[in-house]
Amino acid sequence: MAFKNYIKYILNRKTKYGIHSPFVFQFINECLNSKKDKQKLLDFKRYKKQFVNDKSFIEINDFGAGSKVFKTNKRKIAQIAKVAGMSRTKALLIIKLISYLQPKNALELGTSLGIGTATMKIAYPDLPITTLEGCKQTALTAKKYFEKNNFSNINLTIGNFDNLLPEITINQTFDLVYFDGNHTEIATLNYFNWCLNVVHNDTLFIFDDIHWSDGMENAWNKIIENQKVTVSIDLYHLGLVFFRKESTKQHFIL
Ligand SMILES: C[S@@+](CC[C@H](N)C(=O)[O-])C[C@H]1O[C@@H](n2cnc3c(N)ncnc32)[C@H](O)[C@@H]1O
Repeated sequence: MAFKNYIKYILNRKTKYGIHSPFVFQFINECLNSKKDKQKLLDFKRYKKQFVNDKSFIEINDFGAGSKVFKTNKRKIAQIAKVAGMSRTKALLIIKLISYLQPKNALELGTSLGIGTATMKIAYPDLPITTLEGCKQTALTAKKYFEKNNFSNINLTIGNFDNLLPEITINQTFDLVYFDGNHTEIATLNYFNWCLNVVHNDTLFIFDDIHWSDGMENAWNKIIENQKVTVSIDLYHLGLVFFRKESTKQHFIL
């Protein structure tokens, strides 16, 4: 299924020369095609390696779509980091996006061990991040590593997104929202709808694993059709959604 979705993506992708939107053309040149920051990638690699060397076990309470890999709930930290922790490809993109956009605050749905949160901090150390995780043992492990690595200004909240989002999305806006938990169609659409409350003109939504399953593809297709969304970009591993009123509604597969 993921393979079929990948072929479809490859057949539809465009180069920057077919792009007529000045905003997207500039975004490709200055962000996506910018030089990799080798030091930041090294910091990401070092951070992730700490977990890969952690042989302890925790009991997982699975709130999401379930795992395509794990069969039991007792899991080794090292294995969780390998399977669910941010990959190098995504880290590279996240680092480029955050370094370019310099958001003033971020909301992450799905902390897991905090490797994604740490990547955002590595990209931009001053970034205040609110990150939500339902599994207590996983969240406490993430917290332990944030403290060990002296990361500050991370508000890690333990609870189900369904219970937390109504409160978090009232009376505040976020520059960046990273959706990386519960990869099912209905849940993704629900979280998207809740988070529309936190959007301002320059907010960016990042969706993880938009081609992970047919359900995630359906969710992605419905999200990009939403009238509030103007520019949307399919980077295969991540989907980007902008709300800029000055841009005409257009979808890009890059
Ligand atoms: C793919 S992992 C997140 C990975 C992380 N963002 C990273 O880049 O390293 C998804 C996490 O979301 C959490 N999650 C899924 N559905 C949830 C829900 N409804 N409420 C709270 N947490 C949830 C899972 O427990 C899991 O730890």
